[in-house]
Amino acid sequence: MKFTIAILAGDGVGPDVVNEGQRVLDTVGHHFDHKFEYKSGFIGGIAIDKFGTALPDEALEMCRKCDAVLLGAVGGPKWDNPNAKTRPEAGLLALRKGLKLFANLRPVKMLHMLEDSTTLKRAVVCNVDMIVVRELTGGLYFGKPQKQWSTSRGRRAVDTMAYSEREIERIIRVGFELAMSRRKKLTSVDKANVLQTSRLWRQIAGEIAREYPQITMDNMLVDACAMKLIKEPSYFDVIVTENMFGDILTDEASMLAGSMGMLPSASLAGIPSAKNQRTFGLYEPIHGSAPDIAGMNIANPIATILSTAMMLHYSFGLPEEAAAVESAVMQVLDEGHRTMDIMTEGMKHVGTDAKGKLISERIRKR
Ligand code: IPM
Ligand code: MG
Repeated sequence: MKFTIAILAGDGVGPDVVNEGQRVLDTVGHHFDHKFEYKSGFIGGIAIDKFGTALPDEALEMCRKCDAVLLGAVGGPKWDNPNAKTRPEAGLLALRKGLKLFANLRPVKMLHMLEDSTTLKRAVVCNVDMIVVRELTGGLYFGKPQKQWSTSRGRRAVDTMAYSEREIERIIRVGFELAMSRRKKLTSVDKANVLQTSRLWRQIAGEIAREYPQITMDNMLVDACAMKLIKEPSYFDVIVTENMFGDILTDEASMLAGSMGMLPSASLAGIPSAKNQRTFGLYEPIHGSAPDIAGMNIANPIATILSTAMMLHYSFGLPEEAAAVESAVMQVLDEGHRTMDIMTEGMKHVGTDAKGKLISERIRKR
């Protein structure tokens, strides 16, 4: 089959890791007889430098014409001035909104060979295997009004948390559909003891739960969830939550797996289900642009490579190919190859490109 992929490498280590993602996709293409075509565009700081905007219209249009998007990272100290007209992050938010990517999937899995790279006790993290579903185009990030102004009694600012029934329903459904293909346990996270949006969220989650009698769903307050993630993370299978809570909880959850450099993500424009095997999506590592190590061939490309596996799965309907990428990653880790971020004693240190090549080789030798 033939697919077109938009490449937005962005800033910092973005280009380093995206290169390896493309290398792996090319290998999958050859090995399984698919054709992947790439179109590249600019986003983030590099786009601000070139065009004065973090997401040029051409980049958004290009993405719309493709089957999926592979993104590196955006941002860096160069564009960090709080008084700047536009920030690199604005490009990412505009892209999410512009492509209607409402469902952000962030799987967190502890790989047995990396149990020593986390700051938590082995017994706590050893069985971690969860996926956080974060609402991505609503809530505080996009609610209006959102502004800062001056009054005679000092400066003021407002952000707005707003959700519609439709927005809540579709993201809750993503949670249920994913739970169906996993351990059949869904935790809906809110702050229903304080927020109206959360009360609506909880009502709707309860209503949809009746359509999925096979799934055990519980409601959890976000503060309690933050605690449980550290206390007993293996409790969770699928978590579904709103935009801001999801942002915070996923940074916390990422630490359960040892390194940010390991974790992929998918942002989808539809509800993935057994029937719906191809959803337009954007795929990116969850780590940032790490400008201090950009271009030095030391960034861990695994998060990006696992993101391409999610692309194969959710946007191209190619689960076998996705599994091949995942098992090649496991194999290379099992063999002891490590980038700097997950290096431990007795392991073999490799750079970004060597890691990508090793993983590609293992796919070829299947
Ligand atoms: C994330 C990031 C972004 C977010 C930033 C860069 C705007 O933290 O993807 O989690 O807050 O959504
Ligand atoms: Mg975040």
